[in-house]
Amino acid sequence: MTGKKVCVLPGDGIGPEVIDAALSVLCGVAMAAGIDISTTKAAIGGEALALHGNPLPEETLELCLSSDAILLGAVGHPAWDRQPPHLRPEKGLLELRKRLGAYGNLRPVRQLRGLLPCSPLKSEIAESVDLMVVRELTGGLYFGEPRGQTGPAGSEAAVNTMRYHRCEIERIARLAFEVARKRRRRVTSVDKANVLEVSQLWRSIVEEVRPAYPEVELAHQYVDNCAMQFVLNPAQFDVVLTENMFGDILSDIGGALTGSLGTLPSASVGEGPALYEPVHGSAPDIAGRDAANPMGAIGCVSMMFDLSFARPDLGAAIDKSVEWVLERGYRTRDLARGGGEVIGTSEFAARIVQRVTCCLNGNAGHS
Ligand code: IPM
Ligand code: MG
Repeated sequence: MTGKKVCVLPGDGIGPEVIDAALSVLCGVAMAAGIDISTTKAAIGGEALALHGNPLPEETLELCLSSDAILLGAVGHPAWDRQPPHLRPEKGLLELRKRLGAYGNLRPVRQLRGLLPCSPLKSEIAESVDLMVVRELTGGLYFGEPRGQTGPAGSEAAVNTMRYHRCEIERIARLAFEVARKRRRRVTSVDKANVLEVSQLWRSIVEEVRPAYPEVELAHQYVDNCAMQFVLNPAQFDVVLTENMFGDILSDIGGALTGSLGTLPSASVGEGPALYEPVHGSAPDIAGRDAANPMGAIGCVSMMFDLSFARPDLGAAIDKSVEWVLERGYRTRDLARGGGEVIGTSEFAARIVQRVTCCLNGNAGHS
């Protein structure tokens, strides 16, 4: 494998802390595996607004486009809450996804044995959670036009548009079927076809794509029922295919199932380099206190080795090391409810680096 360039966007709130943790894993694994990876940091979100007055500066975008992969922490800060939409930190992330053509957001949700006591579900239900949300990421309500607020004070109105073109639905449906082929071969497509025309088109196009994947089973669910089924019977789900807004909501429920949203990574794939971002937000209330859970960000590094660098073995080594550390009772504060020893972000990362490098160097002991 020749040298790889990773663009690193720490962002706001806990973003820089979880990114430091993830970078220690990335660099530790790269060194142990003899892979040349160079990283360059750039500003996005609130940090970029403060520095450049733009949540996605041109130089950040160019750096991203010329990289092999992008690792992002989190964006968003209450300081910018009252700003117009184009001057909000979130706009930087949405614009980046759009400009990368990163239409497919893969969000794996799996219950780890070491975290079973942390799930709010009964163990016999929680232990079966192993699903992948395939969220459409560059269309729907987040991007549809027209949008905006109109009318004078006292009689304001606002509009957002949920709009999907056939080609956007086709490509995300194909991605979901491809992902399902490598998993348990079952896709549940989630919509609101009993009410929304967009969902009726979505459903019929998913049905059109289906015959190309005869080995994959397809079911449809309304989004309200699906949210309930996530909690009542998550074992029924393998790949959950859905549009942007529904996917945003369902993936947070997924995080709750496993004990904490802080555990979930994601990969956003499409036309350009893939963008890896934890599912959690910037959590400004705990920022700078070494209390954030870096599992989502570290899981992003694992997905990066798997999807961008064709080294699933290294991704698996990272995942196993995370599980090993959890099974020894170490966890960050968000997972304290399950018992065990609460440690800080940096110590948690250091334990993972130590374990994974030991494993890769072939001398993992039982310490
Ligand atoms: C997510 C986040 C983002 C989204 C925000 C920060 C714009 O909630 O990745 O789930 O809504 O997509
Ligand atoms: Mg979200």
